[in-house]
Amino acid sequence: MRRALVAGNWKMNKTIGEARTLALEVAEGVAGEDLSGVEVVLGPPYLALSAVVETVAGGAIGVAGQDCSHHPDGAYTGEVSVPMLTDAGATHVILGHSERRELMGEGDGLVARKAQAASAGGLTPIICLGEPFTTRKAGTTLSRIAHQVEHSIQGAFASPPPGGFIVAYEPVWAIGTGLTATPEQAQEAHAFIRERLEAIFGLECAQETRILYGGSVKPDNAADLFAGPDIDGGLIGGASLKGADFLEIIRAARTDSASI
Ligand code: 13P
Repeated sequence: MRRALVAGNWKMNKTIGEARTLALEVAEGVAGEDLSGVEVVLGPPYLALSAVVETVAGGAIGVAGQDCSHHPDGAYTGEVSVPMLTDAGATHVILGHSERRELMGEGDGLVARKAQAASAGGLTPIICLGEPFTTRKAGTTLSRIAHQVEHSIQGAFASPPPGGFIVAYEPVWAIGTGLTATPEQAQEAHAFIRERLEAIFGLECAQETRILYGGSVKPDNAADLFAGPDIDGGLIGGASLKGADFLEIIRAARTDSASI
């Protein structure tokens, strides 16, 4: 039985004060009703990380960096290392997000090295993959995803971590566009990712791995998306910036978690 997970990726939004306010709203909302069936992770920008960790301390909410370097330290201006993130109290790190792949030119090999470093350093990576619109249009989505699984995940791990991986399927054309994969498109991609993980790492890993959907998840479409048997929650961008919307999405994951 997989526990649903809903993670917020705040991207380059929220000052430290704003981050505290949002984290508090989420923490109080989660504590105020029984949302314990859902694992919740917040992904603030680096500068607000410590403030968010402090704000949610004592609860069960995880905190994610939005990226990390694969180097432990050194002359890498502007980068943030795994030890820096764990020192600040981070529990997770988002890796291979499409915005980093597209805007910063990150490829699968680098994502794999980061995932390796994160995992070795005690952070749980949330490994993102997904196809651009041209790939979907060309009908080659599944082979693109298979390539990403092989090179971003298989390339990083000789054996799976206990409890499996956390993977986020984020079709690039659905991110921040208001376009959403249909529940059928999402389920097809998720089932395929799970099948690939089974072929590489075995049945137990495939069954334990949480596969999150990301791409314009909103309170009004979350329940339909999360109803897919291979959809274990979401990685939420825009809608995670408003406490009430994010809590509504967590509730939608809770309903689903009862059925898996
Ligand atoms: P949106 O929910 O804003 O489409 O962003 C999705 C995403 O990129 C989460 O990482």
